[in-house]
Amino acid sequence: MAAKAWFKDRLNDHYLLKARADDFRSRAAYKLEEIDLKYKLIKSGLKILDLGAAPGSWSQYAMRKASGKAKIIAIDLLEIQPIDGVTIIKGDIRDQQNQQKILDLAPSGLDLILSDMAPDTTGVHHADTENSALLVHLALDIAEKLLKHGGSFVAKVFEGAEYKALIDRTRKLFGFVKSFNPKASLNRSREVFMVARQFKTNK
Ligand SMILES: C[S@@+](CC[C@H](N)C(=O)[O-])C[C@H]1O[C@@H](n2cnc3c(N)ncnc32)[C@H](O)[C@@H]1O
Repeated sequence: MAAKAWFKDRLNDHYLLKARADDFRSRAAYKLEEIDLKYKLIKSGLKILDLGAAPGSWSQYAMRKASGKAKIIAIDLLEIQPIDGVTIIKGDIRDQQNQQKILDLAPSGLDLILSDMAPDTTGVHHADTENSALLVHLALDIAEKLLKHGGSFVAKVFEGAEYKALIDRTRKLFGFVKSFNPKASLNRSREVFMVARQFKTNK
């Protein structure tokens, strides 16, 4: 086995065991933890939207970090087992009715939007990156409607030709935008996290 593949397998094992020990539903929790420790996004009292939330480890992490004092709305195509304090919607975020449900649940706006959404991959690089970028644009559409002034945004993107346009759009909307590659991300060559703070509108 090539050294790189061997290392990736060991890293996967490490995070899987750690997730089990920490009672997280997925190792993805550690990606959000790294992002949060670096950019200080999650604290108690926030209203948070978790897009593409199944099985639920980002919501688990956010709720723990907020000491149980956050309001979280989590949506996914897949079933999410209940998490204390988290309002769960099962459905497609591309569906207008689900977007309306989120609007209804957060009439006074959101402090933070998280998106770990990933499209079903086709194996065709440009199709996968395009579908991923579409999901991030949708998350940004929701941010434009719902994020409070000064709010924050995190989204996973499969990096491709569309990435520059995504970054450009995000820079227009936020005062601070960075790309971040967590160590816990085993797909570091492909996935990157856009971290944005200081949302400029929706006063
Ligand atoms: C990597 S997983 C998320 C893991 C999650 N952050 C966690 O920590 O448990 C990506 C999720 O995005 C969801 N997803 C993809 N497209 C979606 C869509 N259009 N609407 C809602 N969820 C979607 C998938 O069903 C999948 O569960």
